[in-house]
Amino acid sequence: MTDATNLLVTGGCGFIGANFIRYLLDETPFAGRIINVDKLTYAANPLSLADVAERHGGRYVFVKADVADRVAMARVFDEYVVDTICHFAAESHVDRSIVRPDDFIQANILGTYTLLQLARERLPQIRRFHHVSTDEVFGSLGAEGFFTEETPYRPNSPYSASKASSDHLARAYHVTYGLPVTISNCSNNYGPYQFPEKLIPLIILNALEGKTLPVYGDGKNVRDWLYVHDHCMAIWRIMQAGHVGETYNIGGRNELENITVVQNICDLVDELSAPLSDRKARRKLITFVKDRPGHDRRYAMDCTKMERELGWRPTESFATGLCQTVEWYLAHPQWVAQIHSGEYLRWVAEHYGSGLTSVSTAYNS
Ligand code: NAD
Ligand code: TYD
Repeated sequence: MTDATNLLVTGGCGFIGANFIRYLLDETPFAGRIINVDKLTYAANPLSLADVAERHGGRYVFVKADVADRVAMARVFDEYVVDTICHFAAESHVDRSIVRPDDFIQANILGTYTLLQLARERLPQIRRFHHVSTDEVFGSLGAEGFFTEETPYRPNSPYSASKASSDHLARAYHVTYGLPVTISNCSNNYGPYQFPEKLIPLIILNALEGKTLPVYGDGKNVRDWLYVHDHCMAIWRIMQAGHVGETYNIGGRNELENITVVQNICDLVDELSAPLSDRKARRKLITFVKDRPGHDRRYAMDCTKMERELGWRPTESFATGLCQTVEWYLAHPQWVAQIHSGEYLRWVAEHYGSGLTSVSTAYNS
């Protein structure tokens, strides 16, 4: 694919989408226009891109819309003559999918279907449809082995099942209709702008405030962590040099037990921020709580294909990435205040009752 002219990025006000837009406009020679479509759910924070909109003016357009809204999305495709799509928009939190799967079916399956169908109807003008997905579609690993691009899908949560479904649709639109689709399945991301319901930002912010640090089950579940900037570089590399119809596994080669991640964060927060009023080490805040139902034990990605075919490999180690992440959250209290207010609290109150401040607390109450 040569450089996109009018690139539709969905979910650009979320964690990875915002990092991707910043990366493309600030760090690459990309010369086209980005049209960011986001429904602005509780997980979105327009503050994540406020300076981008100011700095890049006409090269960045924001449209508030639901990707499952066919009429609104058809208007976007036609008004901005969209030729390339990078599809991030999704409901993305496993715990939330367990308590309320409806939104996941709607956004992840119907939303992806709507975009694929609109792209198919404009096929000659579409140069690439990149679908962003997760390693969770493969299910859970035992102590040994890695997921490869050939591993059969075996999703275990409503979230991963909805993503698996969207991956199958994307693949089918390539095989059946010739839509130029690529798919990436990535491991757990962390870094700036991540909504604090996911493990790493939740623990950073709770540790900072001296709150309980909830660790599910025995804390020995393993995730393969990748710094978000490395993921963004991988996606852009696939969009430029990846082969149509192919899927690519992306991971950090950074397998860690949850308890180790949480302990590392405690130590970093102790080092980089003011001590707690009782001068207690943050590790003392760790509390083992009820396990997540169907909790996948271990994820680990084999990224040989990305490395061999596209010359991509992660640049950030977990130590350097985590340090930058903690520093970022410490330096951006305004962003945190914004995301903890308004939409999120309204959503939690509506679905779990007033008085709760996060889904995590609702889940364990
Ligand atoms: P996020 O929850 O931080 O952001 C999702 C964004 O999508 C939000 O801005 C939200 O408003 C928007 N959105 C949701 N439903 C929408 C709809 N119907 N229409 C328009 N916009 C909608 O998620 P994230 O962590 O940035 O994940 C982005 C993508 O990457 C998802 O597809 C996710 O499955 C995938 N992924 C995430 C990870 C991870 O570790 N976070 C790892 C691998 C893959
Ligand atoms: P999460 O960030 O929700 O990502 P995912 O479930 O998509 O992997 O969780 C990462 C790991 O951390 C997962 O094994 C669940 C665990 N976890 C906790 O132990 N405590 C928490 O409060 C959260 C949110 C997650």
